[in-house]
Amino acid sequence: METIHTIAWMKQVARDARRREHILGFVPTMGALHEGHLSLIRAARRQCSPVVVSIFVNPTQFGPGEDLAKYPRTFEADRAACENLGVDYLFVPPVDEIYPRGFRTFVNVDGLGDRLEGRSRPGHFRGVATVVLKLFEIVEPEFAFFGRKDAQQVRILEQMVADLNLNTQLVTCPIIREPDGLALSSRNAYLQGDQRRAATVLYRSLDAVRAEITAGERDPARLLAALRHAVDREPSVVIDYAEIVDADTLEPVMALRKTCYVMLAARVGTDRAKATRLIDNALIELVGDSLRVTL
Ligand code: PAF
Repeated sequence: METIHTIAWMKQVARDARRREHILGFVPTMGALHEGHLSLIRAARRQCSPVVVSIFVNPTQFGPGEDLAKYPRTFEADRAACENLGVDYLFVPPVDEIYPRGFRTFVNVDGLGDRLEGRSRPGHFRGVATVVLKLFEIVEPEFAFFGRKDAQQVRILEQMVADLNLNTQLVTCPIIREPDGLALSSRNAYLQGDQRRAATVLYRSLDAVRAEITAGERDPARLLAALRHAVDREPSVVIDYAEIVDADTLEPVMALRKTCYVMLAARVGTDRAKATRLIDNALIELVGDSLRVTL
């Protein structure tokens, strides 16, 4: 595995791969790799060669007062994990390589980026779309792999790819969960003591929605009431938003007629300043006449 720090060298490597008609797969990450990331790398390895993984803690997607400075950085372990999985190139650019002095061009995906996470974290998706477009321009991958845990991010990036006629195809991979249901996230590292157990209420509440749907409930308001009821039993967890939205527009739905997401964000921890904000979702799909719910 070769570690690359400069854009010029990464572009050269990508150009050589294309010249040899290789199918380049790309997994962009912010490091602190966990099984969720590793599942993306494995999916990329099955479909592509060479595989490029980037590690870049992107400052423009963190708001003031967010966790940029304390975001977990575990480079040596990340490097070893990539090496073990047969990653070909690890792209680790310094911040001033991606954002040189005077940088002033940003990507906004109107509408989709202002809802849900975007409402709670203004500017977040502008930073995500900007860095992903830059990374796509540098790596020029045939396929790029993202996790469904960040369903809104995937939807926004799909829109960006379509609107800007990019050549990269996005591949969305399933959410990877701990045995007790907690969705893997680099931010799980912040959970202390009882917070780790309390955090499973995100999964449990989505599972309550699944149970309601299986029992025949179809009213989004009643489904969300069941979700809130489940979360309320965990006093240290406070919902930031819980919505059932159309998978395409990300607007709230009045009925479960086509593909939807139950989107959930919550703070775990009684002290708001020290609480950990986690997100999770469930995918609801109409299959024939019945609804399939995937957590
Ligand atoms: O999902 C992430 O880890 C980040 O948002 C991404 C896509 C690597 C962009 O910084």
